[in-house]
Amino acid sequence: MKVLIATDKPFAQVAVDGIRKEIEAAGYELALLEKYGEKAKLLQAVNDANALIIRSDVIDAEVFDAAPSLKIVVRAGAGYDNVDLAAATAHGVCVMNTPGQNSNAVAELVFGLMVMAVRNMYNGTSGKELKGKKLGIHAYGNVGRNVARVAKGFGMELYAYDAFCPKEVIEKDGVKAVDSVEELYSTCDVVSLHIPATAETKNSINYALVNLLPKGGLLVNTARKEIINETELIELMERRPDLKYVTDIMPAANDTFAAKFAGRYFSTPKKMGAQTAEANINAGIAAAKQIVGFFKEGCERFRVNK
Ligand code: 3PG
Repeated sequence: MKVLIATDKPFAQVAVDGIRKEIEAAGYELALLEKYGEKAKLLQAVNDANALIIRSDVIDAEVFDAAPSLKIVVRAGAGYDNVDLAAATAHGVCVMNTPGQNSNAVAELVFGLMVMAVRNMYNGTSGKELKGKKLGIHAYGNVGRNVARVAKGFGMELYAYDAFCPKEVIEKDGVKAVDSVEELYSTCDVVSLHIPATAETKNSINYALVNLLPKGGLLVNTARKEIINETELIELMERRPDLKYVTDIMPAANDTFAAKFAGRYFSTPKKMGAQTAEANINAGIAAAKQIVGFFKEGCERFRVNK
């Protein structure tokens, strides 16, 4: 049985070591393809793989076609919009994610970005504090919950909107569950995005929605770039010089954002939210265990395709 780690953005070495331990203890072989850059290298490496551990690596029909022995793909992380689920099902491949395993890392980065923004990107001028400000958590999943936990330490007032999570679950954490996404944006000084990229959410963070933010509003994106309607956000930020946007996922129009909104726009050069040793260990080892459980016990917990 051959398990391939294919990560263009590699895990910390300590996580790779931990994955290797799990895989070898099960009697399987581990292969490693890191920083592969070109898709051709990935297509070649998956040729004899029975299982695949990935991060944001794009796994499409071409990859499944090149992997005739593949039975399972585990996305070591939360979002699986990078995997073609229909193609996986058509090829008889099980796809899983590892929910919750890297969420603290992402939540901590939310505050790294947030503090940077309210302190005017550390340009030496007088900024603002987070204490007493209203924070809107847009979707109350694993990352959203961790954001709420950390925000309490900053003394922020907490609000959340989640179309699927029951209000009682949100309010049990001392977070006010608002009735609509519009209410969240019109109420909060800062909105932090934690929605996945799906057909419904793509481009949904648009002019009309972000324009509801009160004066001096801040939008923080550690989710996905596809959820932002970039053209409309640029138009809005041109009309509203009070708004700021900080993101861990570089927009397609990064150059335009950077040129037009100096001092109120920041993007990390590479998605860094889950890029910690702890998150890599948690998600990587969970992925390895899920693969072993799948082959040895037929366990399909965390399967995301039909
Ligand atoms: C996730 O969906 O788990 C995060 O966006 C992290 O993605 P990464 O593994 O590519 O850093």
